[in-house]
Amino acid sequence: MQETILVTGATGTVGREIIKQLAMQDVKVRAGVHSVIKGENLKRLPGVDIVEIEFDKPESLHAAFTHIDCLMLVTPFTEDQVEMAKNLIDEAKKKEVKHLVRLSALGAGAEPGILLGRWHREIETYIEESGIPYTFLRPAGFMQNLENYHAATIKHEGKFYLPAGEGKVNYIDTRDIAAVAVEVLTSEGHKGKIYELTGPQALSHSEMAAILSEKTGHAVTFVDVPADAAREAMLAQHIPERLVDAMLELYEVYRSGHSSEVNDMVETITGRPPHTFRQFASDYKECF
Ligand SMILES: NC(=O)c1ccc[n+]([C@@H]2O[C@H](COP(=O)([O-])OP(=O)(O)OC[C@H]3O[C@@H](n4cnc5c(N)ncnc54)[C@H](OP(=O)(O)O)[C@@H]3O)[C@@H](O)[C@H]2O)c1
Repeated sequence: MQETILVTGATGTVGREIIKQLAMQDVKVRAGVHSVIKGENLKRLPGVDIVEIEFDKPESLHAAFTHIDCLMLVTPFTEDQVEMAKNLIDEAKKKEVKHLVRLSALGAGAEPGILLGRWHREIETYIEESGIPYTFLRPAGFMQNLENYHAATIKHEGKFYLPAGEGKVNYIDTRDIAAVAVEVLTSEGHKGKIYELTGPQALSHSEMAAILSEKTGHAVTFVDVPADAAREAMLAQHIPERLVDAMLELYEVYRSGHSSEVNDMVETITGRPPHTFRQFASDYKECF
């Protein structure tokens, strides 16, 4: 019998790519969408059903989690992400899910680590204690953050701003995270494993800007901003203070060069090398 896999956060950056790639496999996919309108495109994919899911509403969890074999647990970056994830894990336990794959983050294993990592580690620990067989994916920062958060200024000003200095960062393409997730969800031998995933090379943001310039055909410059200015800008966008603190801590890690280590885990699991930043810039050049 075909396995049924529920993917939460299915319209998000990683979730929608996982759904797209799972649709090419012989599995039933349930795409957990926050809003049916946003999930319309997913409905057209073969083997994909959509289910409305509101993480804070237990009745929606009950419907979404009934008769699933595996859960791909993706939750958003919000102030209540730990509580949110714990509710979903409780439901997965109730429904006796056979395999839970969690989208965590690189740094979740660091001691004492940074806030972002500690929040993810708290969720991982809760999963370990639940007794549900699990696999943790701990990716580096996403190349697609440039599209999601910086495309507008790159397009209109030819600049992007971050308090990250010249530290090199091991960004990964979310298409590769999805490829790993699909392999882990559809083949044996991954239970109890923790996979730290990075892109193939670490680049500074100035180096990324140079590649974007080349691929888009217009000048793109990286502007290093002081942490205080970045804080003010994020608060002005009504980002909650706790999340701002967490982001600034991460950018400090970037600045210090402590996010520059790369590994070959994507290729080990999928058999294919991960996308380079050059490839990403070429594929996404229309966004910039
Ligand atoms: N960005 C990075 O560089 C990075 C690196 C490593 C790890 N991570 C981790 O990756 C995760 C985020 O993944 P992502 O970037 O793919 O997420 P994302 O693009 O922000 O998408 C979040 C998804 O969750 C849905 N959602 C939000 N609130 C919901 C609710 N209350 N009920 C039901 N669904 C809800 C959203 O739907 P709507 O849009 O319709 O609300 C969306 O589909 C976080 O845990 C983050 O820490 C991120």
